[in-house]
Amino acid sequence: MTNCVHVDRNGDNTKSYQQIVDNWLQGEVAAFPTETVYGLGADARNAQAIAKIYEAKGRPSDNPLIVHIGQIEQLQGFIDHVPEKAKLAIEAFWPGPLTAILPLKSGALAENVSAGLSTVGVRMPSHPVARELLTLANMPIAAPSANRSGKPSPTAASHVLEDLEGRIPYIVDGGPATAGLESTIVDFTVEPPALLRPGSITEEMLISVIGELQGAGRLRDQDAPKAPGMKYTHYAPEAPVLLAFLDDEDVTDKIEQLRSQGKRVALVATDSYRGLPHDAFVSLGESNEIEAVSSRLFAALRECNQLPIDVIVAAAYPAEGIGKALMNRLEKAAGGNWL
Ligand code: TXA
Ligand code: MG
Repeated sequence: MTNCVHVDRNGDNTKSYQQIVDNWLQGEVAAFPTETVYGLGADARNAQAIAKIYEAKGRPSDNPLIVHIGQIEQLQGFIDHVPEKAKLAIEAFWPGPLTAILPLKSGALAENVSAGLSTVGVRMPSHPVARELLTLANMPIAAPSANRSGKPSPTAASHVLEDLEGRIPYIVDGGPATAGLESTIVDFTVEPPALLRPGSITEEMLISVIGELQGAGRLRDQDAPKAPGMKYTHYAPEAPVLLAFLDDEDVTDKIEQLRSQGKRVALVATDSYRGLPHDAFVSLGESNEIEAVSSRLFAALRECNQLPIDVIVAAAYPAEGIGKALMNRLEKAAGGNWL
């Protein structure tokens, strides 16, 4: 049985939060909202609790978790030292959607949090519910995205229920996650620091604060992934996804060609593209602003699973700024396939 605890972003939720903290102290898991996506949290010092995260998600055990904190002082409990450039980035971007890979203090966390690595990913979310909850907890909370492994990340409590109902005791429902794409991950244990996963803290923003940054090319290196999770298939709805720049002249012809082969096409795009041929239209919203599109992407991919369709054509965007993070997730969802 999964209990959904509703909290009001602006109200006093101390009782509800205390219930979740007690649940964590007892070695149980609970999902909670962050500004990026919902996370599935547990006490990072308790190996049995962490094992429940891997179990509920069906996550491979070699894929380490990110640790979440509510206050910066918590870092010293489990980080060996904070490199200078990490200090600069933390000052600029925390609380917020930046995960810093830092040297782990040996023995400070359960070994299965970092999947045996000597480094650990840490982030301080800016979502008011996450911050209050993590501050009250005052313990490191390991939390991957609260989806079943391989599914699109959850941007609403209903998505968490879809994937994990009956598998976890609690979900804190704090409304939709606003950014909608997971945090930017930067490894500060190498010099220059390396971007492991693009997100809404962009390369340009990072470079302006820390100077040089190693590129994201390594993300595609399947043999030696630096963020182990990047080697797994991700974000995939049930039907195959094809990417397309919807302003291209031949898009209409290509979609009609699919339909003439008897394939029912779901078009995932902003409302201005409703005029293109489709059997189902899944809206990414009215606005073509990349932030708005990003915040809707995972929900749209999930919506496709409810529709009688055979193939998904999804709008592609220029890989610049946040568009880089959006295209990184879209390319994974599509397995690199284009219309
Ligand atoms: O926005 C987010 O980051 C969300 C919310 C819940 O905070 N969390 C999230 O976690 O996306 P997850 O587990 O779905 O993705 C974490 C990624 C994985 O690809 C993992 O391999 C990588 O971070 N990672 C974790 N620890 C690492 C480490 N020590 N070195 C390199 N990569 C690491
Ligand atoms: Mg994930």
